[in-house]
Amino acid sequence: MTKKEIKQRIEKLKKEINYHRYLYHVLDRQEISESALDSLKHELYKLEQENPEFITKDSPTQRVGGVPLDKFEKVRHEKRMLSLEDVFSKEEFEDWERRNKKIYPSGKYEYFGELKIDGFAISLIYKNGVLEVAATRGDGVVGEDVTQNIKTIESIPLSLQVHDVFVDNKNIEKYKKNIEKIIKKGTLNIKGEVYMTKEVFEQINRQREKSGEPPYANPRNTAAGSIRQLDPNIARSRKLEFLAYAITTDFGHKTHKDEHDMLKVLGFKTDKYASLFKNSNEVEKFWEEILKKRDSLPYQIDGLVININDNKTFQMLGVVGKAPRGAIAFKFPAEEATTIVCDVSVQVGRTGVLTPVAHLKPINVGGTVVSRASLHNYDEIRRLGLKIGDTVVVQRSGDVIPKVVKVFENLRTGKEKEIKEPKKCPICFSDVKKDKNGVILRCENKKCPAKSRESLHHFVSKKAFDIDGLGPKILDKLSDIGLISDFADIFFLTEGDLVPIERFAEKSAKNLIEAIKSKKEIELAKFLYALGILHVGEETAILLAKYLAKKSKIKKPSDVLSAFDKETEESLQEIPDIGPKAAESIKNYFKDKHNREVLQKLNDAGIIIKSPKISSQANLLEGKVFVLTGELKSFTRDEAKNIIRDLGGKVSSSVSSNTDFVVVGENPGSKLQKAEKLKIKTLSEEDFLKIIKK
Ligand code: IVH
Repeated sequence: MTKKEIKQRIEKLKKEINYHRYLYHVLDRQEISESALDSLKHELYKLEQENPEFITKDSPTQRVGGVPLDKFEKVRHEKRMLSLEDVFSKEEFEDWERRNKKIYPSGKYEYFGELKIDGFAISLIYKNGVLEVAATRGDGVVGEDVTQNIKTIESIPLSLQVHDVFVDNKNIEKYKKNIEKIIKKGTLNIKGEVYMTKEVFEQINRQREKSGEPPYANPRNTAAGSIRQLDPNIARSRKLEFLAYAITTDFGHKTHKDEHDMLKVLGFKTDKYASLFKNSNEVEKFWEEILKKRDSLPYQIDGLVININDNKTFQMLGVVGKAPRGAIAFKFPAEEATTIVCDVSVQVGRTGVLTPVAHLKPINVGGTVVSRASLHNYDEIRRLGLKIGDTVVVQRSGDVIPKVVKVFENLRTGKEKEIKEPKKCPICFSDVKKDKNGVILRCENKKCPAKSRESLHHFVSKKAFDIDGLGPKILDKLSDIGLISDFADIFFLTEGDLVPIERFAEKSAKNLIEAIKSKKEIELAKFLYALGILHVGEETAILLAKYLAKKSKIKKPSDVLSAFDKETEESLQEIPDIGPKAAESIKNYFKDKHNREVLQKLNDAGIIIKSPKISSQANLLEGKVFVLTGELKSFTRDEAKNIIRDLGGKVSSSVSSNTDFVVVGENPGSKLQKAEKLKIKTLSEEDFLKIIKK
């Protein structure tokens, strides 16, 4: 970049960052996540460091805080509510320690570390032991009074009392006396984080999707939105939680651990992983350990908060800008980052849907280098306003395919190219058609090679017919030479068909035919999943199978046809988790002439379907929610899950107040502690066996 171009980029970045800061801090709205904004700030910071002549006083890198909303009453914080500086690596963490030791060499450098929950900070003021005000942080000096909404959070005590809980602290009796005095007469200030669990968030979104509303972006925003709106009934319905992390009132305490212990004594929920660390090395190990656990935790975290444990050292180090030197946010790799879209290609899936895929300038997102991202459909491209060459936000979470979630139009140079919606399938050049809602593009050609190939791969995959030795390469070859054009053809293959094909020795041809034969018997759920019906994933297929098996005897593919012929879109929606979209897609699938022919062909091939057993015990566990933890001796995880489902129960991956039973195997995980905490009934493997054998 020339100096002129650098200056222009800096100006555009500053404008963009300021815009998002304003949205976030002033209007309580957010178009991009904090980590995406951090990515932009990071680029600006780097450019400014390399070109200091372009640093101006009004640059976002030079400013602190925002302005509060006036939707709620304003509350002036007694002491300024500070925030934290971030570090992203061990090196940066060790630099922080080194700097502090230089500033205050005689300090005690032990640390108290806890999880940094991705929610938002709330300050609670208890006057004479009773909750008087709950306020948001605002700009740190003035926040908003959200007391009515906060009072709906059950884990926040409305009045304080000293609880009889064990804490490992020899000074606790002395502290309890001090606290009791403050509770009687005085003010106590507690700080903590309001958040929403992943499970509640997903429930809300499932509900929204069912009623045709757009899903919320993430638990943090949803929690913040629930508190910063004026109706306490909405806040209550959102099942928010509160985790306390600080007492900023002096109760004679000497360390941060004292605060944590006292919070427990006062009946607040605190981070169960929080602990004391003798040195930075121990902290770094903790960071690694929690990073591994991150995805399995019931709430989102974005790192650790590390406090110098000794209050005197903490205070001597003082505050710089908006943050105390004595504490730091030791963040995990961000799950969002910014990069450039170099190109957009089109993929044709097994249902014929044309999906645009963004080719990205490779970027590290949350520890993995990403070069492709799904764009879902052309409506999404229009919604994003995406052009080739744009700077975008890429989001990754867990194992899902990364997505483009935001375009920075202000960073355009003018050289960006429009993305054209294809009129023809890129594989077979047939016409494409839009669905009823005008969103999804489909290749109309039933025999489109891309379509049949994808559906063939799906049909033989592990969770479907699970045919060993029939990998994508062989399937592609077989369709190239016209031996198979739909998945029923697989069952009509003979050794003689295979042997002339390159790579097939007589023996392997024989083995493959044997393998295919041995898979002619299949469970109904797997059969339904194998068909590749739009919106029918593994879980939905299990529910459908149970529903159908209760109503009629299904032994062969033609029985499946007649069973679905009796259903309507309305009747299918009685099945849990099946909404209007899935019901419509199922009905359409079985109405389609070509699909009916393929099912009939499967019938002729002698496919045998095993229906789930609907025993007299089918309702034994009706409506009961189970969570499994640890290893079971008598069955695998999947077998145990199937047994529960067959008996009418549900299996959930995390423990919550909705859980009825936690089945505890050997070496149980943290789910056991959670169950004990929530007083949820636990079952040993023997107890579980007894119940299911009743
Ligand atoms: S201590 C001086 N502890 O992270 C501020 N903060 O980046 C002291 N947060 O504003 C904060 N979990 O909203 C602390 N265990 C934890 C936290 C935590 C989440 C949030 C909090 C704070 C922000 C700082």
